Amino acid sequence: MAKIDQTQSPPFHEVVQGAISRRNVLAGSASAALLTMFGCAVTNQNQRSNLVISKQTTAVSPLMQFKPVSVREAAITSNRQWPLISDDYDFELILPWGDPIEPSGPKFAWPPSPENQAHQIGIGHDGMWFFPDPNNPNSKGALALNHEFGSTAVILGKAVPQNLDEVRVSQHAHGVSVLNIERVKGKWMVVGGDNVRRIHVNTPVEFSGPVAEHELLKNSAGNKPMGTLNNCAMGHTPWNTYLTCEENWPFYFGTTSSEFEPTDEQKPYNLTGRSFYGWHNFDPRFDLRSEDHTNESNRFGWVVEIDPWDAQQVPVKHTALGRFGHEGATVAVGKDDRIVVYMGDDMGGEHVYKFVSSGDYNKMVRDGVSPLSEGRLYVARFNDDFSGDWLELSTRNSSLAERFDDDAEILTFPRIASKFVGATPMDRPEWIAITPTQDVYCTLTNNTGRTTPNAANPLAPNVHGHIVRWRDEEEYTGTKFSWDVFTLAANTQQTENLFSSPDGLWADSDGRLFIETDGNQSDDENTINNQLLVMDTNSGEIRRLFTGVSGCEITGLAVTPDQKTMFINIQHPGIEARSPHTGRTFPDLGGVNAIPRDCTVVLYRKDGGIVGS
Ligand code: FEO
Ligand code: CA
Ligand code: CA
Repeated sequence: MAKIDQTQSPPFHEVVQGAISRRNVLAGSASAALLTMFGCAVTNQNQRSNLVISKQTTAVSPLMQFKPVSVREAAITSNRQWPLISDDYDFELILPWGDPIEPSGPKFAWPPSPENQAHQIGIGHDGMWFFPDPNNPNSKGALALNHEFGSTAVILGKAVPQNLDEVRVSQHAHGVSVLNIERVKGKWMVVGGDNVRRIHVNTPVEFSGPVAEHELLKNSAGNKPMGTLNNCAMGHTPWNTYLTCEENWPFYFGTTSSEFEPTDEQKPYNLTGRSFYGWHNFDPRFDLRSEDHTNESNRFGWVVEIDPWDAQQVPVKHTALGRFGHEGATVAVGKDDRIVVYMGDDMGGEHVYKFVSSGDYNKMVRDGVSPLSEGRLYVARFNDDFSGDWLELSTRNSSLAERFDDDAEILTFPRIASKFVGATPMDRPEWIAITPTQDVYCTLTNNTGRTTPNAANPLAPNVHGHIVRWRDEEEYTGTKFSWDVFTLAANTQQTENLFSSPDGLWADSDGRLFIETDGNQSDDENTINNQLLVMDTNSGEIRRLFTGVSGCEITGLAVTPDQKTMFINIQHPGIEARSPHTGRTFPDLGGVNAIPRDCTVVLYRKDGGIVGS
């Protein structure tokens, strides 16, 4: 396999200076203000680079009038067990793990039975989207909600499942919930409906696209494809469906044999035989040594389409979008109404991808062809001169035609193909958001393992992460783009902008960027919980809207069409001790036998304004 030279990078000060000067090209006139008050600055090109993080935010954004939560308020000297929110906002907590997905369903009891958990909200709340009811769009709708993962200690009170029933509880706690929610007398609550369902690890699924009928997806056991796993971030389509993305699925595949040696195709996917979840002890689908299930792991790592309005629809895994550690799938409508999907592969040194449909999505949908089943997959190369190239991953690319037998093989192993074509290794690409200016923003959460910087990932190691921005030619569909480093996380000096490990990301139509964090939020003096920040992409001003509870991650974001109600998630409160008896029992702080429960937070301005304003 060809060696890729990743050592040719300019000095850091040149990278940062150049990246920031690109803002003039990409975003107009705001670059100077942004440079001095938010991100990083280079004091002198001839000196060693010098990060300057402001201590005060002086700009006043017309987009953000709310009083921010200050670092002083949010800083913790002991465990902070309840969220903080701006004085101008209120919140309520809904949809805790284990509540029934419809009012008539089984009530929460710990530990859950496999039967009950299959009709209850899963654990590990992550990406989600709100699909408004046409008759009552701002007060009622379907919510599709990912359940990324759950500690077996929290779910069952033990390190790993001890029998198949306990495996099933864990499996049924994963996947996706499709619920209906409605605001009744000022409070959001679960209501029933024909579309309500749980999709979990044992739900039948089907495949579309070039790999669908390929041997790579067949097992000698003849078992039909089932289930979705480690559903992280998401996307939604113009034809009103939900996309759920499979991220850290390799960690569910284990082996009881110490002799297991991963294949060259399994190694880049971290299929090491070490599982955190112990399912393989009782369910041979997840045993990497099972000769009847040699291709089971190829059935995971995809983007999965769900119809939130039709409980009978079989979820579809779209192989044309490639198999990797999918964070999210952010959809844009491109030139000639082709569908464009931006996707990050969240592992250190992995890549950013783009899919472009073969034709006009309206016509494809009318013809009964999924726009996600036919098209081209590209991987990004960020050049040192702030240009970029989308490199096609198919046998049309002559360098790949020599290495791979067919497109199905490339799409099943794009981590291998990407390195072969010289894509840029990134610092864990997480969520991707698009502003109305067609600027595409991607969180690079951190990468402590980086030893060699490149232009788009200028810190080695990258402890606190950054955000990269690009703009594609030809209304998202072109193979050329220009880019800059939008900001580095400001966690290195005491600052009101303190944040680290940006992860969840969403942009509204006014140009507000909502940033959610997943990592240690601390500088030398302050430690705060993971948070939701709002940033004005025009002025660069940033304000802290919300902080979560000890141990949790803030993730997932959905809004009502009027943007006056926002939903975010508190994921894994109390997981760090991997025990239900740590004293961290959010949201039931007073319960004698309470355990931590992931839940959804509803945010709204007290005066009824748009969230973020
Ligand atoms: Fe599931 Fe990369 O976060
Ligand atoms: Ca994430
Ligand atoms: Ca993360």
